[in-house]
Amino acid sequence: VRVAGVAYRAIWVAEDARGVEIIDQTRLPHEFEIVRLYALEDALRAIRTMQVRGAPLIGITAAYGLCLALCDDASDAALDAACRTLLAARPTAVNLRWALEEMRAALADVPPAEREARAYARASELANEDVAQCRAIGEHGVGWIEAVHARRGRREPVNVLTHCNAGWLATVDWGTALAPVYLAHDRGVPVHVWVDETRPRNQGASLTAWELGQHGVPHTVVADNAGGHLMARGAVDLCIVGSDRTTARGDVCNKIGTYLKALAARDCDVPFYVALPKSTIDWTLDDGRAAIPIEERDAREVGFVTGRDTDGKTREVAILPEGSAAANPAFDVTPARLVTALVTERGVCEASREGLLELYDERRTQSR
Ligand code: MRU
Repeated sequence: VRVAGVAYRAIWVAEDARGVEIIDQTRLPHEFEIVRLYALEDALRAIRTMQVRGAPLIGITAAYGLCLALCDDASDAALDAACRTLLAARPTAVNLRWALEEMRAALADVPPAEREARAYARASELANEDVAQCRAIGEHGVGWIEAVHARRGRREPVNVLTHCNAGWLATVDWGTALAPVYLAHDRGVPVHVWVDETRPRNQGASLTAWELGQHGVPHTVVADNAGGHLMARGAVDLCIVGSDRTTARGDVCNKIGTYLKALAARDCDVPFYVALPKSTIDWTLDDGRAAIPIEERDAREVGFVTGRDTDGKTREVAILPEGSAAANPAFDVTPARLVTALVTERGVCEASREGLLELYDERRTQSR
């Protein structure tokens, strides 16, 4: 995806091969700043402080974090320790575990002296696969947008509602939920996106709106609570969101507030689609509500809002009365029955065990 005409990914190996570079997402939309990660601690900090975020990007950052750790110490003990600390960086997106398992498998029989090179090669493969998978998600999902357009047969835009940021900033490139939107737009299908602001960290307002704007996709940011009203008024043709963990039976865990959008969509007969690569499927879990660990973030994120004032200075302001408690669960689970369909790099399927197994037949023998 391009930023001011220049092609970027959300993470890449530095040109001089000394470290890995990321776009600091805590600075967007007001500042575009590239940060270099030199050591494991830098990668850990980037994930924990959400300089990088979004399930697939967290996984790829962890993979590169392991490379950085191995530059310092390629011993078995260092490899184990780095995997342990990276795994604990954020709890909900299963892509983190997936990426570390992929890296471990690639490094298992490699002697320490060769580990660093092998690790970089595998991490870069995973990054390239993520790009290809997101592009494929776009190809499989764009039909939903094209079908609405064909039905209408006019220039009026197809209205898509999305929650949080599941665009290219949440992956390596293309995004998951936004990949079909970008493809539709690139193919000349008129598309407009309702962007949920996504309190408390505002990933919709600050990241989704920014990346759609950079790509020239028409969009409107709405307060999180506006979605139900818009759907009831017929202003939303379809919802597409991403996922941080999808269980074997198709329950979907995504940014807090996704569940309420799915409920409103069901009540208003609006299709509710979820886009995800295979790295987001947790085949070990069934009941998402019972089993997915939900990240509890600092309540400070609810009590303070950060933004740019009229002098161009970034400021944090308090919005709660002194002494009021706040809670900050960061994700919720939407049960499979509220999901119209899933789209992955392999195609579209029902949100159910059978639906997923139709796409991932190789899992039949491993799945309970
Ligand atoms: O807390 P975040 O910003 O990491 O949460 C991100 C989301 O919830 C995204 O919707 C999800 O990771 C899907 S990303 C393609």
